[in-house]
Amino acid sequence: MEDLRREYEWGELSEADVLSDPLEQFRNWFDDALDAEEPLPDAMTLATVDAEGAPNGRIVVLRGVSELGFAFYTSYESAKGRELSACADAALVFHWKTCERQVRLRGKVERLSREAGETYFAGRPRDSQIAATASPQSSIVSDRAELEARFEEIAQRHDDDKPMAAPETWGGYRLKPDTIEFWQGRVGRLHDRLRYVRTDGDNWRLERLAP
Ligand SMILES: Cc1cc2nc3c(=O)[nH]c(=O)nc-3n(C[C@H](O)[C@H](O)[C@H](O)COP(=O)(O)O)c2cc1C
Repeated sequence: MEDLRREYEWGELSEADVLSDPLEQFRNWFDDALDAEEPLPDAMTLATVDAEGAPNGRIVVLRGVSELGFAFYTSYESAKGRELSACADAALVFHWKTCERQVRLRGKVERLSREAGETYFAGRPRDSQIAATASPQSSIVSDRAELEARFEEIAQRHDDDKPMAAPETWGGYRLKPDTIEFWQGRVGRLHDRLRYVRTDGDNWRLERLAP
């Protein structure tokens, strides 16, 4: 393979500069990623484990950050949905390449309310609503034609401006982080890693990790 090594020179991360609230720190870095025109800054890898303890990972989109956690939407009957039912412990990873940054979160995941799911679903484009309804996410299907037929059938049933209800099997989750780690690439590979560990409530301890 071609040698893809590169220098990291975008910035640095020091204890003196980070904010005491990791959510505020996250929002700052998210804004930096937007300013740097990072493609898909809200895409994050969600890692889960199944009932046997085997890991799994995939990308989902961040749909809100608050003290309650980091939210995303999906099918409750998908592989990730089943895995989260078996084990609520999960991790999220952001990689903002333009800023040479990574953010890692670990914590427990819980479902959002049906109401939150309905509100979010109602704001999605009609095609996305139809696709979410037509797709038994993570199930084996015979071929693409089967999916297209399901899509068409649902599209015809909802060929008007009336609101579409979110499928019962679809909705939101949020991960409430116990740890949040900020990684900044540095020249010479001596990268910066600062980790916030929740001590109690909304209090956090800051620690530096070796890269
Ligand atoms: C950029 C990107 C964003 C995605 N966003 C979502 C999302 O928000 N929700 C979702 O269910 N799947 C999303 N997916 C698809 C998932 O990665 C995955 O294929 C799907 O959720 C099924 O995963 P599972 O079988 O592990 O449950 C996204 C994929 C990509 C590449």
